[in-house]
Amino acid sequence: MKAFTDSWVDRFSTIYAEAPLAELSWFTAAPGPELVKLVIDGVIRRGDCVVDLGSGPGVDAVFLAAQGMKVTGVDLSAAALERARAWAALAGVEVDFVHGDVLDVPLLDGLADVVTDSFVFHNMRDEARAAYAGQVHRLLRPGGLFVLNSFSDHMVAGTGPRRVTSAEILATFDSGRFDCVDLRLYRNLPTADKPDQIHWIGQFRARR
Ligand SMILES: C[S@@+](CC[C@H](N)C(=O)[O-])C[C@H]1O[C@@H](n2cnc3c(N)ncnc32)[C@H](O)[C@@H]1O
Repeated sequence: MKAFTDSWVDRFSTIYAEAPLAELSWFTAAPGPELVKLVIDGVIRRGDCVVDLGSGPGVDAVFLAAQGMKVTGVDLSAAALERARAWAALAGVEVDFVHGDVLDVPLLDGLADVVTDSFVFHNMRDEARAAYAGQVHRLLRPGGLFVLNSFSDHMVAGTGPRRVTSAEILATFDSGRFDCVDLRLYRNLPTADKPDQIHWIGQFRARR
């Protein structure tokens, strides 16, 4: 099964090779502001083993590595991985960027203290959601933290992936495998075509 909806499978297979990063509608060159806060607040700590699923050009992964976390980024796009490796080299940090599918992540069970998802889940087809939650849970140690950053149904309509409701998120990640610690809306950096970026930030702890 493919993880993403058809239009986004096609788009992501080429876009990182064809377009400058600044032309991508979701690219802000900054790590997610709520991710930054989780580091400032000590929820994600130095030495934590973090897996960033769908790491794209690696902005979150490089930020976390610069903060002392041991980071692995996973992405299906070779061009995205190439850009992410270049960004890590420029920043002078070690990140393991791995080619892989979020529905079949080539990493060991229970290795992660933290799994992050920035703008991956909202691209996913309904049938893939349970398998994806299974992968996130498999990668986390018991009690490990999943951090979800996602488009929401409260943001402007228009181009781009699906808008996701809190009910959809809770049905996927609070259904036996995880405990929801936090799920709320926040205002993200605006982009040219999305001035009102009202997104979800969620924290879920993996049950045993
Ligand atoms: C909207 S981008 C988000 C990138 C990055 N997390 C960020 O916040 O900038 C979604 C990413 O998921 C990747 N992707 C798409 N399908 C995937 C799959 N099945 N497995 C792994 N990565 C995938 C794309 O290549 C792309 O880099």
